[in-house]
Amino acid sequence: MGKGLFITFEGIDGSGKTTQLNKVKTFLETKGYNVITTREPGAMELGKKIREILLHYEGEVSDKSEMFLFLADRAQHVEKLIKPAIEEGKIVLCDRHTDSTIAYQGYGRGQDINILKDLNRIAVNGIIPDLTLLFDVSLETSQNRVGDEKDRMESSGIEFLKKVRNGYLELLKEHPRRIKIINANNNIETVFEETKTVIEKTLQEKLGV
Ligand code: TMP
Repeated sequence: MGKGLFITFEGIDGSGKTTQLNKVKTFLETKGYNVITTREPGAMELGKKIREILLHYEGEVSDKSEMFLFLADRAQHVEKLIKPAIEEGKIVLCDRHTDSTIAYQGYGRGQDINILKDLNRIAVNGIIPDLTLLFDVSLETSQNRVGDEKDRMESSGIEFLKKVRNGYLELLKEHPRRIKIINANNNIETVFEETKTVIEKTLQEKLGV
């Protein structure tokens, strides 16, 4: 059985990361890899209910409560889906993961970053991405791509989004080996070329192919 790989896709709303994730899936499958795609929040049955609250609940959600909901989703997701899939030798492509919590709840909402790191550690129980692709996009492009129909998180305003983007850039400085930045302002194919180059380098480094 081959060694599994865990790759996460990060970026502010409208960065185009989900489109790239699907293109990477096809690319890797063509090369013969066993790939699964998943996301946070909302991959598991429990997570779907949590996602519904996080994105569409119209009542009050305190910042701390929001933080725990994202982490509850992650704990279930890692234990029941991500960890077993990696152990089965699959390549797991995950749309958002721990860095989203640091960027959004930490830098964005102002929750204590060190506490968030501890909570993330509890939620993932030793499972850490082999590679994180950070799709960096300007606030303007992000806003244009998201459009007018915004969910609860997307309605947090431009100042919030700015803090989240800066948070991601801080994370990039902190984890230069794990996190690789991709210029996501370009068109889909150009972004994919850049993405593919990074993925191929990781396959070489981690799987020796
Ligand atoms: P998505 O639209 O990319 O699926 O992400 C859902 C929203 O949830 C998005 O606005 C980012 C936000 N989010 C957090 O604030 N913290 C987290 O830990 C995660 C996973 C997502």
